[in-house]
Amino acid sequence: MSQRPAVLVARAAFPDIVERLRAHFEVEDNPADQIFSKAELSAKLAGKAGAFITGSERIDAELLAAHPQLRAVCNMAVGYNNIDIDACNARGVLATNTPDVLTETTADFGFALMMATARRIAESEHFLRRGEWTKWAYDMFAGSDVHGATLGILGMGRIGQAVARRGALGFGMKVIYHNRSRLAPEFEAPLGARYVSKEELLRECDHLVIVVPYSPASHHAIAAAELALMKPSATLTNIARGGVVDDAALAAALRERRIAAAGLDVFEGEPKVHPDLLSVPNVVLTPHIASATVATRRAMASLAADNLIAALTGGTPPTPINPQVLPLKA
Ligand code: GLV
Repeated sequence: MSQRPAVLVARAAFPDIVERLRAHFEVEDNPADQIFSKAELSAKLAGKAGAFITGSERIDAELLAAHPQLRAVCNMAVGYNNIDIDACNARGVLATNTPDVLTETTADFGFALMMATARRIAESEHFLRRGEWTKWAYDMFAGSDVHGATLGILGMGRIGQAVARRGALGFGMKVIYHNRSRLAPEFEAPLGARYVSKEELLRECDHLVIVVPYSPASHHAIAAAELALMKPSATLTNIARGGVVDDAALAAALRERRIAAAGLDVFEGEPKVHPDLLSVPNVVLTPHIASATVATRRAMASLAADNLIAALTGGTPPTPINPQVLPLKA
């Protein structure tokens, strides 16, 4: 019988990276990319010491209690609201994520989505495809400028700062931000970024970009009352997590033109999308692809694999979320 630890690769992944894991572990993978129910995921974790997961797999206290042999869960995502970290800590299970490698790619996408939203690119493309373009008109799909406008960032972590850099240095935007804590002056100064209250952020920005992690504290951080503070000409872009924005309230604000437009890459309850969002024209909808370039997805998968290998072979996992559980019990 093999002494090598058994691990689960819960979703389809780059074959060569799965092969790299096979050099160390008995791997059960999922090349068909089946989406496991909670019960199926639990069944697959039987006897596994570690798991390579994505943001779609929920690792909760019940699952951890059912699998006391599990020692590491390695997320191929920077966000980790799918993992109950307190429960991991209580059981000495290491959780890891993939920060840094996706920062610039995700910021590129956030900026692209904000621009598509402000300049009404999706809405006008649909109009053209429907064959409705019969003449030029002075106000046809007139949107709002990005250059020189006020960029409001909710959540000024690594990705928020990378979006701010694009806005300030590339597009001459004024940057205001709200965050749990204020950045040090050496981070604010090169961007000319001004720390403001959440209310001031919402009232003053022309383009709001949401990059705050999801937690019970950020649930519906942007709902009807917050949307009501925004300018009718403002746009909202969410590249953070579904659930940070109240999608039903947003759809109502868009329909009633209480804000101009929105760009959404993430949705509460995704891959389901609130039906009201599907029927309003002034929203750009993308299926959670902000980190999706080939190079970045490879870097994320590779980092998740490095974490899993290090965690279960006595090495030092490069990006632990809860390093206090290290070293793991054999
Ligand atoms: C994607 O949403 C991630 O958290 O990496």
